[in-house]
Amino acid sequence: MIVATALSPELAVVPRHVAIIMDGNGRWAKGRHLPRLAGHRAGVEAVRKVTRAARAMGVEALTLYAFSSENWRRPADEISDLMGLLRWFIRSDLAELTQENVQLRIIGDYRRFQPDLVTLVDDAVARTAGNTGPILAIALNYGAQAELAAAARRLAAKVLTGLPAEQIDEAAIEAELDTAALPPLDLLIRTSGEQRLSNFLLWQAAYAELMFVDTLWPDFDGDALAAAIDAFGRRERRYGGR
Ligand code: FPP
Repeated sequence: MIVATALSPELAVVPRHVAIIMDGNGRWAKGRHLPRLAGHRAGVEAVRKVTRAARAMGVEALTLYAFSSENWRRPADEISDLMGLLRWFIRSDLAELTQENVQLRIIGDYRRFQPDLVTLVDDAVARTAGNTGPILAIALNYGAQAELAAAARRLAAKVLTGLPAEQIDEAAIEAELDTAALPPLDLLIRTSGEQRLSNFLLWQAAYAELMFVDTLWPDFDGDALAAAIDAFGRRERRYGGR
């Protein structure tokens, strides 16, 4: 379902839910002979620009892939840098998110993070839980296959306590996913020229428009998002029909 926006008349249709695989921080840094951390830092600046732009354009939900379940394979100091940036982002941006009526959500098994970070994240989510505006969902230690396996485990437990197996349909599975409270995914963008989903929102992407752009994530900004949304508006979505 697509809504027209009154906020930006030049954009005919705005996707309700946009998800982004933010890729290319390392290459951005390498191109400037900077350490990878500088690329991730610039990536956080891009997160700020893009979340603000998404709000201004009337996007109801923005889901960002910040740390995948496969990212644990990175060197320990890079993992620690990414956690540090997440702490920095939450501490410095929570006031703005709260003021802007944003609901912060997390998808993924973030409870495997360090206890102080889990507390910080839980507190930030709780502080914005009463907000009624756009959703900013951050994927932390997220993997779509693990999300689906967890949903299957919960449904199996319900079957053991009396749920008829015949009642497990698409809606039943969706209700068990981390994204259950988010609108259907309309547009999935990956930056940096790679054309893979990398275990991100595999179920949710079933009917989403996929967009692969060459821009490295730190260079992606409000204008780049507007261009993607404009291209989205020109695509014809048929959902399997003719
Ligand atoms: C991919 O670039 C990016 C990541 C693995 C991390 C994304 C994290 C951020 C943008 C910062 C933290 C996020 C928030 C929400 C505060 P890469 O390192 O794989 O780049 P490369 O493929 O060029 O090496």
